[in-house]
Amino acid sequence: MKERKSVYPGSATPKVKWIGKIERLAWGGLGVGREADGRLLLLSAPLALFPGEEVEAEVRWKARHGEGEVLRWLVSDPRRRPAGCPVARLCGGCELWEAGTHATALKRLMVEDLLRRQLPKMETWEWKPAPAEARRHRIQLHWAGRQLGFHRRRSHSIVPVSRCPAADQALSNAIPRLAEALEGGALPSRPQRWELATGTPAGEVFASLEDGRAWRLEPDGWHVSQDSVLHTHRGAVLRHRVGGFFQVCAPWAMDAFGQVLEAWDLRGITLFDLYGGVGLFSVLLRERFQRFVLVESEPNAVAWARKNLEHLGLSAECHAVDAADWMPDGLGEPGDTILLDPPRVGLAPAFSDKLKRAKAGNLVLVGCDGAAFCRDVQRLAPEWHLEHLAVLDLFPLTAHAEFVGLLRPTPAP
Ligand SMILES: C[S@@+](CC[C@H](N)C(=O)[O-])C[C@H]1O[C@@H](n2cnc3c(N)ncnc32)[C@H](O)[C@@H]1O
Repeated sequence: MKERKSVYPGSATPKVKWIGKIERLAWGGLGVGREADGRLLLLSAPLALFPGEEVEAEVRWKARHGEGEVLRWLVSDPRRRPAGCPVARLCGGCELWEAGTHATALKRLMVEDLLRRQLPKMETWEWKPAPAEARRHRIQLHWAGRQLGFHRRRSHSIVPVSRCPAADQALSNAIPRLAEALEGGALPSRPQRWELATGTPAGEVFASLEDGRAWRLEPDGWHVSQDSVLHTHRGAVLRHRVGGFFQVCAPWAMDAFGQVLEAWDLRGITLFDLYGGVGLFSVLLRERFQRFVLVESEPNAVAWARKNLEHLGLSAECHAVDAADWMPDGLGEPGDTILLDPPRVGLAPAFSDKLKRAKAGNLVLVGCDGAAFCRDVQRLAPEWHLEHLAVLDLFPLTAHAEFVGLLRPTPAP
């Protein structure tokens, strides 16, 4: 095959040192720098970057921009604090430790940058910072045969850990118990991924493997378990399979979503809860709709959704099927809402086209990748326009955020 000639003489060059200032923060926690000739640089760092900081980076120039990694800070922001985690520089789990209490303000800057570029008409939006006590109720650890830990940043090698300050205390305390059981052969010791999870309120701790096997932590060790993880929220109970999907910072996520949906006063006849998991949004909106149709591709989650919604006495049908395949053309009536909470990649183009022909009066789009969310809002236009937007810091200490938008049909001109 003929080798492609580079358009820019400096592209595909070896890595070079670069010294300069972080101008602003872009989506994903990248720092934006600028070369003297105006070319932009996107810089990643093991820890938070503050605009205005001066750094030395290792950069590779591409056709029109550079990409690199910060090696050291020459002038650091006075708000920078020592990380509250001994492996913060190595572990791939959290990027914003050294920003301390300013982490949420930095994340807001990233969101502002994304929205300015992708949804410039959306001048007003709500930002919900995470409360200081928000912690992860689900963590994924890797057992490498001798060590238990998290993946090293941008690598599959292991950073051994004996605690995790970003996780709920009950989970953090369970890490050495899991390591002990793996080392001693009390749990399957083949190298693989483990999930530790707890419910709300935190207390019971479960360990699970991807094949579905689960154990519950008791004072005398791990016991095989068929139990489910239980979450409570304002009088409602939600259960899911151990190892099944649920919001990472469960109590804070339930509060934050609940507050946003309540403020929008979303109500009506039927809620179509697409990508519905075990029924979180149907449960949060249980007093605001008369009927619930939940669509979710994972059969086990659907089985739990059925039980969760039945337990609350809701009139609900739950379908274990691909959401795009299930959705009929022209779905809904003006009194109905279609709520979509797809995985990180967002909506497929053909599904967005189908949604443009829906007859429901509201569409709520939830997305954990801001870039995919903005793209989907753009794709749904002009038939749907974004009326309200809330961005929730559901993933404290990371550069991730949850986007929730209320879209309404655009009136005919
Ligand atoms: C981001 S989670 C949201 C779950 C739920 N709304 C919640 O907040 O707990 C996305 C869900 O979509 C489901 N899913 C993935 N692909 C799907 C598809 N093509 N059709 C329907 N559901 C799908 C996943 O199993 C997962 O439960």
